[in-house]
Order: sequence, then C-alpha cells, then structure tokens
Amino acid sequence: MNEKITVYQETEAKGTLPEFLNEEAGKRVWDFHRSLKEYEATPLVTLDAMAKDLGVGAIYLKDESKRFGLNAFKALGASYAIHTLLSREVSGCPKEEVQAGTVNPAFPGGKGKTFVTATDGNHGKGVAWSAWKAGGRAFVFMPKGSRQCRVDAIAAIGETKVTVTDWNYDDTVRHAYTFARENGYAFIQDTGFEGYTEIPNLIAQGYLTMIQEALVQIQESGRKEPTHVFLQAGVGTMAGAVLGYLANLYHGKPPVTAIIEADESACVLTSAKAGDRTAIGGNPQTVMAGLNCGEVNLCIWPILRDFASFYISCPDWVTEQGMRALAHPEGDDEAVVSGESGAVGTGLLLSLCKESEYEKSRKAMGLDENARILIFSTEGNTDPEHYAEVTG
Ligand SMILES: Cc1ncc(COP(=O)(O)O)c(C=O)c1O
Repeated sequence: MNEKITVYQETEAKGTLPEFLNEEAGKRVWDFHRSLKEYEATPLVTLDAMAKDLGVGAIYLKDESKRFGLNAFKALGASYAIHTLLSREVSGCPKEEVQAGTVNPAFPGGKGKTFVTATDGNHGKGVAWSAWKAGGRAFVFMPKGSRQCRVDAIAAIGETKVTVTDWNYDDTVRHAYTFARENGYAFIQDTGFEGYTEIPNLIAQGYLTMIQEALVQIQESGRKEPTHVFLQAGVGTMAGAVLGYLANLYHGKPPVTAIIEADESACVLTSAKAGDRTAIGGNPQTVMAGLNCGEVNLCIWPILRDFASFYISCPDWVTEQGMRALAHPEGDDEAVVSGESGAVGTGLLLSLCKESEYEKSRKAMGLDENARILIFSTEGNTDPEHYAEVTG
C-alpha cells in the first residue's frame, strides 16, 4: 500500500461548459429542495484558527452531516432524481390526497413504486429515504465488505431491502442495474455508463444545492469567494457537479480545483494520467467507503478532465488526520463531526501545508496567505464505532 500522497497536475485541456449544470439548473434544483419540509441549509463553518496555523487566507468547510438528518449530502441527488422522474409520469397530484397527507406533493405518484440502487452507503440511504417519502419501497445492493452499521442504517428506512453482494462496488452496480431491468423497477444510480446517463445527470444536478448554499453563505458572512475548491471523488459525480457549476458561473475559469481520492481506488487520477477514462478493478480497501469506486461516471469524466487542475490520491491516514483535526479543533474553531469520506480534504490540506515533503505541491497549488479554500465535509459519523476509534 502506498503511504504517500500523490499529486498530479494537469492544467492544459479546457473543454465546453456542461450546460446541464448551469445557474438555471441550480436554481430549479434548489427551489425543489427548499420545498421539502426537512430542508434547511447545512452550516458553513469557517476555520480561522486552522487557516492561521496553516498560513492560508481562509478555510470554509461545508458541514453536510446536517443534511436532512441523514448524516451525508447524498439525498440531495436521489431526492431530486426521484422527484423529477415521478413528476414526469404524473402531472400534478390530486388536491384531496395532498390535503389528507396521503400523498407527498414533492414525489407525486410514487405510492407503491419500487426503486433500485447500488451503494457504498450514503447514496442508498438517500434513495431509501426518497422512496419512503414517495410512498414506495427500495431494493439496495451493497458491495462485499460493507460495514454492518451502514447496512443497518439503510435497512431501517421505510420499506427497504438491503442485500450485500459478493462483488466490488462497480460489479454491484451492474448487478443492481440488471435486477431493476428484469423486474421493471426504477433504477436510481449515481453513476453514468453507456446507455444509462439521464438519472445520474439528474443526481448531479441535485448536488448543486450544496455549492449554491456555500457561495451564498460565504457572501452573506461578508467574506471573499473561494480561490480553491477541494472535492473528494468516488465515481466523481459530486465533484463534477460542483466543478461544472463553478465552471459555468466563472465562464470556464473556476477556482483552482483539486479532485481527491482514496489511493487504492483513484480512478479519476488514473484516468487523468492516461488521458482517458480508465477503470480500476479488483477489491480496493479503504476506510473511505464512499470513495471506494473504480470507474468514473461517464458523463462527468469530461468535466473533471477539462476543469480540474490537480488530481490527488490519499492513503487512509490522511482522512483520519482530518477527522481528528475537525473533532478537536484549534483555538475558537468550531468542532465538526466529519466521517471517513468527509474529512479527506481537511487532512490533505494539513499535510500539504505542514509537511516539508509536500512543499512543492503546496506552492504549485498556490496554497498561501491569499488562498481561500472551500472544503466539503460530505458525511458525519456514518460508522460511529470507527469514528470514535479514530477521533478518540
Ligand atoms: C460521504 C461521501 N462523500 C463523497 C462521496 C463521493 O461522491 P461521488 O461518488 O459522487 O464521487 C460519497 C459517495 O458515496 C460519499 O458517500
């Protein structure tokens, strides 16, 4: 196992803007999320003491553990995709049913419907939650080695059946796809592949609420917009959605963006180096369960290729360092509960700024006193036992 952080820089290619992730799409998605009764913007935490210690201008951390009470950002995507799918099939809800509370207007016509997905945890929870809110049920498939606490958290939602397979994440996705097709169920997957792109694109749009909230929160606090964005990637949908939105917003010149992965499953980094979408097979092991994916989303890959500047892979100790730093912050900084897939950006920033062996990378990235870094803590303690072990 590689114990070092790998930083790869590639600033050359610039492609066409992903229109489906523009401001108009963002507004539409945010309006939908605001219509949900569980909606509340998640906190944006400013880590001033840490920024001072690291010699950077500012650190903005979006705390997605507070999203819909689900401990991760993922339901933003699943809810928007299921809402859009159902709204297309049904034009409006019978008023009497809405008034009687037997139908959720955000998810019309979902009663009795079946949704299927594969997940390493958080996305499946988002699908189960949205299916339950719609009055439907969910079949959720999880890869071999999934932690029991994550299985249980999904199975506890509404009418949901969880199956742990004998395969890695990508093969589990293929299995779920076949299962859904054979049974005529709706397949709600957060990654795109040949012949399956529409739903993952809706899911990517769903994530836009997160970046829009962050930008408004930064502005409302009287602070300056970020110069750098750190985005962790599994299949890359979240990273590509945020980056695609920023690329549109800044007319092709988004802030300096780093795509961060678990080193054993660094499919974006491998693809960037190869200049083409490249899969990683086998059974990669990492505590960053949400990032343990070996194939980049087909529709998202061009965005990551064209608009990101740095592709970085991290061993597990990096995120564990981030989890501890956020749990026990310095000075007056607020503590944040950040899980394995959530804390890697913070852990990376600490190493880049503090360890002499990464000085060259820090300089190349421009992480100095003028840098204002936006980081997404995408989950809370989704594995409470491991979280407690790591953070003490
Ligand atoms: C907490 C968390 N962060 C980040 C990601 C990565 O998102 P994506 O798979 O869209 O790259 C995931 C994916 O499941 C996740 O659960």
